[in-house]
Amino acid sequence: MAQAQDKNSQGTERFYLTTPIYYVNARPHLGHAYSTIVCDAIARRKRALGIDTWFLTGTDEHGQKIERSAKLAGRTPHEFATAISGEFRALWDQLGLTYDDFIRTTEDRHKRSVQHLFATLRDRGYIYKGSYTGQYCVFDELYVDGPPGTPCPDCGRITETVSEENYFFKLSAFEHRLLEFYEANPAFMQPESTRREVISFVRGGLKDLSVSRTSFSWGIPVPGDEKHVIYVWLDALANYITALGYGTENDEKFKKYWPADIHLIGKEISRFHCVYWPAFLMAAGIEPPRSVRANGWLLFDQGKMSKSRGNIVRAETVHAVLGSDALRYFLLREIPFGQDGNFSFDALVQRYNGDLANGYGNLVSRVVNMVHKYFGGVVQEPGGESAAETALRQSAQRTLSEFATQFDDLNFSDALKTLWALVAETDGYLTANAPWKKPADRSDADHVALQARVLATAAEAIRIITALVYPVLPDAAAKVWRQLGQGEIADAAKASFLTQLAWGGLKPGTRFADPAPLFPRAEKDAVERMVAMEEENSKSVIEAAGGPFAAQAQLAAAPAPIQEPKKKAEKKPMEETKPTPAPEAAPAYSVPAATSATPAAAPAAATTAPQAAPSSPAPAPEAQTASPQVITIDDFAKVELRVAQVLVAERIPKADKLLRLEVDLGYEKRQILAGIAQYYEPEKLIGRKIVIVANLAPRKMRGLESNGMLLAASLPPDGAPVLAGFLEDVPLGARLK
Ligand code: MSP
Repeated sequence: MAQAQDKNSQGTERFYLTTPIYYVNARPHLGHAYSTIVCDAIARRKRALGIDTWFLTGTDEHGQKIERSAKLAGRTPHEFATAISGEFRALWDQLGLTYDDFIRTTEDRHKRSVQHLFATLRDRGYIYKGSYTGQYCVFDELYVDGPPGTPCPDCGRITETVSEENYFFKLSAFEHRLLEFYEANPAFMQPESTRREVISFVRGGLKDLSVSRTSFSWGIPVPGDEKHVIYVWLDALANYITALGYGTENDEKFKKYWPADIHLIGKEISRFHCVYWPAFLMAAGIEPPRSVRANGWLLFDQGKMSKSRGNIVRAETVHAVLGSDALRYFLLREIPFGQDGNFSFDALVQRYNGDLANGYGNLVSRVVNMVHKYFGGVVQEPGGESAAETALRQSAQRTLSEFATQFDDLNFSDALKTLWALVAETDGYLTANAPWKKPADRSDADHVALQARVLATAAEAIRIITALVYPVLPDAAAKVWRQLGQGEIADAAKASFLTQLAWGGLKPGTRFADPAPLFPRAEKDAVERMVAMEEENSKSVIEAAGGPFAAQAQLAAAPAPIQEPKKKAEKKPMEETKPTPAPEAAPAYSVPAATSATPAAAPAAATTAPQAAPSSPAPAPEAQTASPQVITIDDFAKVELRVAQVLVAERIPKADKLLRLEVDLGYEKRQILAGIAQYYEPEKLIGRKIVIVANLAPRKMRGLESNGMLLAASLPPDGAPVLAGFLEDVPLGARLK
């Protein structure tokens, strides 16, 4: 559904959109870049439609999580936040993102305005003092219902018990108003899954919300009661109005742009945006935002890309190898907005070569080169339309409206599919009319007329495609615009060129600029180069942090300036980098890659057994037979060990050594066959947290597929398995490193 737009005081349409503000406990990765790129594409299109657009992004810098990360890095919270916030901003600039304002929650303008909001809520009777004893998840900065030890519903980490005198916000007073508001504004929350989830949360009853903390100090003080700091989500959500000058003398932007047209957020923070935020605003007498649009997660290595999973990819790497347009195109084309989507270097390169290098790039190059070759670079009068030109023109006209509807509905993937159908049709039109080939029975004059018509028509289609794709491929579109003799596309965008975009705009006599390469084909090594860059990056972070275990605590928490300079990659002899074969004699208790379910005969996983065996009197059998070969940290990093929970455990008929398990990794469920039936009662395993090798190739056993392998110590004399586990509670999916 297209967004409603208001007029500003000058009578122009205006549009306000925001990204979430990013926590500064982790360096930016592709997941963060995703939301910001989506907003950038929307903002570019709105501006090119002549809409007065304001695009806000920034960083979320207060709270206990940041305070702890800074401590870990040996920095003050402010130094720490400044370094990481600088990285976000530098990355957005490197990617050419056109945000209008970047707010940091540690800026004075924000602090003053948040205090004003807090005081307003208190003055209007919606904030009172009370005491809170309960559970709190520091990672998500979330209050959680339940007894001590309750895991956080969002991340699974064990909550901490806090007992404090707090200020409370009367959230309970908004249950009905919120439900009425959702009912009256069906487009407020999208996608539908988010809407359903939020409505059922509110219907379940709302309790008053603690909005201050006293047990730490890294936050904005409560006005008039400075031993309290304001709850970090109240502080953070307010950025959307504080950046516009809410509550200050300089509030023209607030008057002009509020309410926001789109808060673009990740799906896991919809409760904060769809429940708390509109309630705070209603309580303060401010209109709620018009819409909250949740994007899905970018997945990598089967899990949500995130610092805590250790599976991040940096946008810098893709930018360095394929350019930022390639990244933008991939994210918007590959992932239907609102759904989770996989990122992989292979898929990225495939899309790049298929759609950009061989598709759009090749089409532009063919047409621009032929206009130069046959007509000295000058567009000719097309003459009359034949059926082929009529068909292409009508397709382009249909594309103009379909693309607009799909894009403005944030359905980027379909919008690009629609546009690429026109790329393919234009390509097919060229091939069918073959202006480069003169049949013997065609006169010279007829042939020149055909060349003029076909090239002018194809070039016009390219002009339309380029104008539409500009918000997605701004760099490439700028190059093509120049080649088509249209000047600077950024100037055209300022002059609202999308409002006048219609077939027939490419005038005969237009002189094309020289052809220039757009998307050079990515060679076979592009994937390897990107993988190597990511490995090199994580290695340098690990080295700088003082070894693999120190790195666990500091990885991505330490801002770049604090790190030592990167070491140059050392070239290693081939033998050293070969993957280390699993010790042949090592036992294992699951059987994805095994030839038999018998523990003693199954391979792999047992390199961990000697360490895992609790003070065995004698060395475990595999310790005597294990290969003495030393592996590198890179070899080890190839094994993906993760925490999983057993949901189902049952015997398999006629297989007395095998159990069939269904395990939950937090982000997905899997079936694993394990050769432990002689040692474990299936019912005793249910609910137990175990460690699995998550990236083992699947294998079929007795007609069933096994996807992973359990980790266990192997005890002498017969190799009885003891499953690996943890004393502390650990979230599902957590990676062991
Ligand atoms: N600081 C809060 C937001 C406050 S907004 C008032 C926060 N920060 S965050 O850094 O953890 O996440 C910021 C955004 O990045 C969220 O929308 C989150 O969904 C998004 N992403 C982080 N990792 C992501 C993926 N792997 N995939 C897609 N988006 C992801 O939450």
